[in-house]
Amino acid sequence: MAEKPTFYVTTPIYYPSGKLHIGHAYTTIAADAISRFKRFCGYDVRFLTGTDEHGEKIQKKAKEAGMKEIDFLDAQIAEIKDLWKKLEITNDDFIRTTEERHEKAIQKIFTKLYEQGDIYKGSYEGNYCVPCESFWTESQMLEGNRCPDCGRETKVVKEESYFFKLSKYEDRLRDLFENTDFVLPESRKNEMIKNFLDPGLEDLSVTRTSFDWGIKVPFDEKHVIYVWVDALCNYITALGYEGEDDTNFKKYWPADVHLVAKEIVRFHTIIWPAILMALDLPLPKRVFGHGWILFADDKMSKSKGNIVYPGQMVDKYGVDALKYFLLREFSFGQDGSYTHRNFINRINSDLANDLGNLVSRTVSMVEKYNDNILVKNDETNEFDQSLIDTYKESRVDFEKQMNELMFHEALESVWKFVRRTNKYIDETMPWALAKDETSKDKLNHVLYNLCESIRLISTLISSLLPETSRKIFAQIGVAGKEELTSWESTNEFGLIKDGTKVEKGEVLFPRLDVEEEIKILEEMFAEKIVDQEVKIQHKKEITIEDFEKVELRVGKVVKCEKHPKADRLLVSQIKLGSEVRQIVSGIAQWYKPEEMIGKQVVVVCNLKPVKLRGVESQGMILAAGDNGSDLVLPEVLGAIDGSEVR
Ligand code: MSP
Repeated sequence: MAEKPTFYVTTPIYYPSGKLHIGHAYTTIAADAISRFKRFCGYDVRFLTGTDEHGEKIQKKAKEAGMKEIDFLDAQIAEIKDLWKKLEITNDDFIRTTEERHEKAIQKIFTKLYEQGDIYKGSYEGNYCVPCESFWTESQMLEGNRCPDCGRETKVVKEESYFFKLSKYEDRLRDLFENTDFVLPESRKNEMIKNFLDPGLEDLSVTRTSFDWGIKVPFDEKHVIYVWVDALCNYITALGYEGEDDTNFKKYWPADVHLVAKEIVRFHTIIWPAILMALDLPLPKRVFGHGWILFADDKMSKSKGNIVYPGQMVDKYGVDALKYFLLREFSFGQDGSYTHRNFINRINSDLANDLGNLVSRTVSMVEKYNDNILVKNDETNEFDQSLIDTYKESRVDFEKQMNELMFHEALESVWKFVRRTNKYIDETMPWALAKDETSKDKLNHVLYNLCESIRLISTLISSLLPETSRKIFAQIGVAGKEELTSWESTNEFGLIKDGTKVEKGEVLFPRLDVEEEIKILEEMFAEKIVDQEVKIQHKKEITIEDFEKVELRVGKVVKCEKHPKADRLLVSQIKLGSEVRQIVSGIAQWYKPEEMIGKQVVVVCNLKPVKLRGVESQGMILAAGDNGSDLVLPEVLGAIDGSEVR
């Protein structure tokens, strides 16, 4: 027997530093859908996910929780695994970067690169963003030494370090970007060329000595390996590369697709291929950078109390409601906005009305008009051809779109057929045929076609909505019948056997009261995390004279716009007594421009003006929040604009 073609798909490995929200689950749900689909089409699939457990950020979190790192991690990971189980995720492996199989292989990889001269020792002074675990060069940072990814202030880190010769691979990387479809969507490719290759690549610092929660450099143990180098290599260490058994590596590498969200495309399309080039290994065939899920155009954040957790959604609405919403509502490459209203409306319109009704109406009619039995006969009617043509078109589009990871479009293609099938009921009017005994054959023919259409719909969606598909198969009497539920079986209309018995089941998706459910969801996710204990690291003592040098004043925001060139920045006009100042701040992730208007904030007035990405900032707005946490603006209610804060 010929060997099956292989398909290797990965999600990013998650930071186990807090509860995962629906944005995190999005990547895994998508990876699961494509894995199931490829298996369905006959591929030997390897689907990998896991956790990224080293680095300063994790160490800090464990300390804050008063726990040993590994105990902290074990607890977090148990929760993550439970979540994937609840979401029926079919990963074939789960890698933890603290596992021996990974750590040992990373040490071998590092040593190999060092011995062949791709890693060398030097010393490093640079700006580091702790939450993003990233070093930034002068040209990459926002003015004010802020991280271009999250807008927060970076800190200067000076240490002895090993470097990876990233610059050596610049030409090959450029070639990869310019002459292949390695990165999709296209827009991400252009971003990478413009922001990283065009300014020129610098060698990458790949070890740290300022903390010790990481994999040690085997020949210089005061260094730990940079967490991104450690993390990226999970995609090969999980397959046994540099391990005891590399059968899976030989079989599945290179990956067919790495699924990642847009802000980590940079690591996957520059650092990762360069490491692989240095190791003389084939490159992944594709990195797909999907968009972000925002909460009503805003970033989900604990301090705003707008995080939506997938586990609770599943308990309340079922696993497929969440999967359907995430895959159908947002175009995979683009950002999308989650609102409770959109979620409920989607369930009502597509799942309860279109699909749920089709199934329940059809099965009820077979029950009522023909004692649950389907009859296959030679009848035809004028609407058959259009029904079958729509099916064929949907099937072709669906396959193509799934293979291109266009889940949103693929579901829409199936729903075109769902709607066409509902129309077939209206056209053929089975209830009218049932009134006339002489139309019995015609009626049976219509009912058969309806059940056959439902069989095809539920077979197509079985990779995306497995639970729903199983329930429908049971209702139309095809459960467990491989020849009627396989991918091959979708090539033909008319396969259900004469005499098949249908059986009405529970309502697939009950219709929901929109306003009532919105209230329930608001309550469900209302928790605002404000009582976390922060471990404070105090700065050097100053005198009152030092403090008096800083001029703090109350200002009212009278106008606020997005920065024309930087997504993370807002440009506010702030009224301070009789003058109005322009201030640029890295708060766009937490505040919308319209939300800012009217706020009375505290302004540092005597800060030397600077240009932030070309826009002048005449001071600074005070914000509360540590590195790595969300920012909140302290507001001064009822003070006179311009008055001093002392
Ligand atoms: N540990 C790194 C990945 C290392 S891969 C070698 C990491 N972890 S993460 O837990 O922060 O994020 C995991 C994935 O979830 C990333 O692709 C991240 O961008 C994605 N998302 C986090 N929030 C998201 C949304 N709101 N929307 C969509 N994806 C989001 O990054």
